[in-house]
Amino acid sequence: MNMTYGTALVTGASSGIGKAFAQELARRGHDLTIVARDAERLDALAERLRDDHAVTVEVCRADLADAGDVARVAKRIGSDPRLDRVVNCAGLWVAGPALGGETDRYAPLMAVNVVALQTLTLAAAAAFAARGRGGIINISSAVVMAPDRFHAVYVAGKAYVLALTEALQSEVAGTGVRLQAVLPGFTKTELFDRAGADVSAIPDEMKMDPSLLVEAALAGYDAGETVTIPSLPDLADWEAFLAARAALEPNLSHDHPASRYRLAETV
Ligand SMILES: NC(=O)c1ccc[n+]([C@@H]2O[C@H](COP(=O)([O-])OP(=O)(O)OC[C@H]3O[C@@H](n4cnc5c(N)ncnc54)[C@H](OP(=O)(O)O)[C@@H]3O)[C@@H](O)[C@H]2O)c1
Repeated sequence: MNMTYGTALVTGASSGIGKAFAQELARRGHDLTIVARDAERLDALAERLRDDHAVTVEVCRADLADAGDVARVAKRIGSDPRLDRVVNCAGLWVAGPALGGETDRYAPLMAVNVVALQTLTLAAAAAFAARGRGGIINISSAVVMAPDRFHAVYVAGKAYVLALTEALQSEVAGTGVRLQAVLPGFTKTELFDRAGADVSAIPDEMKMDPSLLVEAALAGYDAGETVTIPSLPDLADWEAFLAARAALEPNLSHDHPASRYRLAETV
């Protein structure tokens, strides 16, 4: 057991970005609880991290599309006093257009990408606020900045993650709890293969290695960022976006509609 760092719980740790988070947090000296469905992969990762970094690693097999399993993980977050970091990476992607097919085909995506993430985020925020410290890292996506170019339901779920993270950060201000939304671009993981999608046409210079992504995400977290876009070269571009959004604020709620929406004779 590490006495310097608390324990980090990482969902989606069996592959891709979640696995890279588990590896980097273990390298930094965090004990870990790693969560996903594939127990064999989790066991293999746990063994390697224990050997390489002398940290404690617990495996928590859970299907985050299953409400009972999500409740079990949330309970674990609430009851482990050493836990001070939750990283929500578990997620899936869908290929093709949003329309057509069975109406309930997005249930697994919504359950994992949105509902489970929300439940675990709220459980962690409440537990960490009570403990006076803790950090929550939520994996959103850079697609939220270009919603018209990607799958409508996937983008909407990732926009939810960003909004939840930003809104909750303001609610927990002063409690010792920090939240961060990470907006990765294309990352070299199993995400697209699992959805049966071919992304070979995406140029290699647009695809980041998960270990580099995680290094950047944690640098952003350490720098106190609430939103981190690992690929974005100039932070001023994000600050300009925030400033433009803030400039709308004074005019988002009035007792009358804007003049362009009123009939000419009533203006
Ligand atoms: N790759 C990209 O280009 C990219 C870009 C932006 C954002 N993201 C986001 O990054 C996150 C991680 O994805 P990735 O790219 O690392 O893909 P990945 O390699 O496919 O990893 C997905 C992880 O989620 C877990 N998972 C999926 N369904 C689950 C379920 N029902 N219950 C529990 N765990 C589940 C998988 O574990 P098991 O199969 O073992 O359960 C796996 O560990 C996702 O939220 C994704 O939307 C990815």
